[in-house]
Amino acid sequence: MTDLRTDPAGAAQAAAAVLAERTGVARHDLAIVLGSGWVPAVDVLGETIADFPVTDLPGFLPPAVEGHAGRIRSLDVGGKRVLAFLGRTHLYEGRGVEPVVHGVRVAAAVGCSTIVLTNACGCLKQGIAVGDPVLISDHLNFTGRTGLVGPRFVDLTDVYARRLRDLVHEIDPSIVEGVYAQFPGPQYETPAEVRMAGILGADLVGMSTVLEAVAAHAEGCEVLGISLVTNLAAGLGDPLDHEEVLAVGTASATRMGELLGQVIPRI
Ligand code: HPA
Repeated sequence: MTDLRTDPAGAAQAAAAVLAERTGVARHDLAIVLGSGWVPAVDVLGETIADFPVTDLPGFLPPAVEGHAGRIRSLDVGGKRVLAFLGRTHLYEGRGVEPVVHGVRVAAAVGCSTIVLTNACGCLKQGIAVGDPVLISDHLNFTGRTGLVGPRFVDLTDVYARRLRDLVHEIDPSIVEGVYAQFPGPQYETPAEVRMAGILGADLVGMSTVLEAVAAHAEGCEVLGISLVTNLAAGLGDPLDHEEVLAVGTASATRMGELLGQVIPRI
């Protein structure tokens, strides 16, 4: 069995082979990673062709967080074959970077040229309401880690592809863009950390996405990042509560699903 830590590329190929068998197709067009509260959005997205626990594929870990279903679904969305990861592995689970980026590597290995990364986040930016989606335009990596292996000097100028953000704006010009800062978690940020992030240019704070975006970009995929604002960042509103984060996600799921349903066939 290929080991995820010592041979991540081999592990991705091994999972891709099982995925092709389980879904009945060698290739998918696009993958979407559904973050906290986003999972119900997939139900309104398209026709389900296959659905199975993520742990059926080599290299994937069972979910550690409530609100992260730990399943993979293969869907037909307007003629495109879409791979949806219902949940993700987070860095704060303490199992290293490899399980965090395994999903996007497997998606790239089955032919996905686009990866849509979704998450729930806290917001620092004035004028954005709880329940609003925000397009990630750039990121700050506060994890001190990388989604890459070895000396790969990957350019990140357009990691969140301008082309895809423009396409979303053609569908809904009201969606704003923002810079996402990934903190390691699992604790939420302190108000001082939020102020620091704001001074450094962050509009959004969260605990995912950045390492996956870097790994996907390095694999040659175009990345679209969409954050759902579930709360005002620490110190700017009420104290934070994971249940409330999930509740906002669930309440917004239909709207997010409809947005994705419009965007995906046009990518
Ligand atoms: N900070 C970090 N992660 C989050 C937040 C937050 O405010 N909201 C949802 N996920």
